[in-house]
Amino acid sequence: MKPSLVARPELARQGAQKIDWVRRHMPILSRLEEEFSADRPFAGKRVVVCVHLEAKTANLALVLRAGGAEVAVTGSNPDSTKDDVVAALADQGLKVYARHGASPQEMLDSMSDALDLRPHAVVDDGGDLLEVLHDRRRELLPELAGVCEETTTGVERARERQASGGLQTAVMLINDARCKYLFDNVHGTGQSVWDAVMRSTNLSIAGKSVCVMGFGWCGRGIALRAAGLGARVSVIEPDPIKAADALMTGYHVGSAAELLAKADFVVTATGVAATLSEPHFAHLKPGAILANAGHFWDEIDASSLAAAGTEQRTMRENVTGTRLPQGWVYLLGEGHIVNIACADGHPAEIMDTSFALQALSVHALLTGPSPEPGLHPVPESVDRRVAELKLAAAGVTIA
Ligand SMILES: NC(=O)c1ccc[n+]([C@@H]2O[C@H](COP(=O)([O-])OP(=O)(O)OC[C@H]3O[C@@H](n4cnc5c(N)ncnc54)[C@H](O)[C@@H]3O)[C@@H](O)[C@H]2O)c1
Repeated sequence: MKPSLVARPELARQGAQKIDWVRRHMPILSRLEEEFSADRPFAGKRVVVCVHLEAKTANLALVLRAGGAEVAVTGSNPDSTKDDVVAALADQGLKVYARHGASPQEMLDSMSDALDLRPHAVVDDGGDLLEVLHDRRRELLPELAGVCEETTTGVERARERQASGGLQTAVMLINDARCKYLFDNVHGTGQSVWDAVMRSTNLSIAGKSVCVMGFGWCGRGIALRAAGLGARVSVIEPDPIKAADALMTGYHVGSAAELLAKADFVVTATGVAATLSEPHFAHLKPGAILANAGHFWDEIDASSLAAAGTEQRTMRENVTGTRLPQGWVYLLGEGHIVNIACADGHPAEIMDTSFALQALSVHALLTGPSPEPGLHPVPESVDRRVAELKLAAAGVTIA
């Protein structure tokens, strides 16, 4: 394998401090690490991890290694890769291939470099590694027991591949486990999106009007926390059942033309390209702040926004202003996933549950019978165990 790609080796100590901090707040993974260190269930196995490469992901990689696995790590998004964490992981002997700000081609090359490990299991986030495996590295598929997919968009991409008959490996649908979407998508996104908006803008949420586009699991959390911060919340949602759910939860529900005109903040969380695009821009309120919480950067059509404006200017770090005919509007993080591009992602305790699902699903893939190619739910026993460990870590007894 190639040597690790470490852009800023001098930052290793800072990265190690970050990893140490999250390890103190991820008790479920600590418990699994103890078990894995004793039993070494992954001895002789190789695992590639492709998730937002920051401290919590580093902890997952270290826990898998504690179980005996050889681990290579790469990033799922160049904006979220933390060069200090990369340096710290390389210092600890893991193979790491990622650089903050890498170009799309560099990202693909780094993924391929990590796959040179010839993995028995892959942890993916958004489906990029699954694509690379099928499109560029098919020779690795026979040795691969399966892929554990973290997020809604990656699950959708795996479903599309399955529907077209092209899925050649097992995909464990981590996102569809209750301990994933009920905590990570709702509470993780709910908190970290507003953390990112507040850090980027230094503005008040209280007393403002917030419009959430998409009332799925993420949108639900974003709306919940906006209301808790004192905002008036409205929801744009094409699914009539989810729209009715938003209405019954107490939010204003209506058309884009009606709601965008009143919104001080607009947050997209759909997983769908061009959710906020050219036809909407004329409706935006002057001064509106726009943020995307979905996986891909194209949910807000940033290039059409630029084309619709007469002037663009950087207002603050992570805030780009565009002058539209009705006044200025402000896009956060260039439309990239805001809680990761403009903050530190989900809280450690949230990623503790998501990554415990990942660790136990890798365990199921590598120690159980090899699953058939296709889509596989996380076993109910794994979902329940993570919830039990979560309660135990909080000192809660329910029976
Ligand atoms: N920011 C994060 O940290 C984070 C965390 C988890 C998931 N995600 C990503 O966020 C996105 C949403 O995930 P989810 O779990 O909420 O998905 P979901 O499927 O539960 O919800 C998406 C919702 O968007 C609605 N929608 C679709 N097109 C729309 C449009 N044009 N306008 C308004 N609403 C529309 C759908 O009807 C659905 O209700 C995905 O890309 C997912 O990968 C981000």
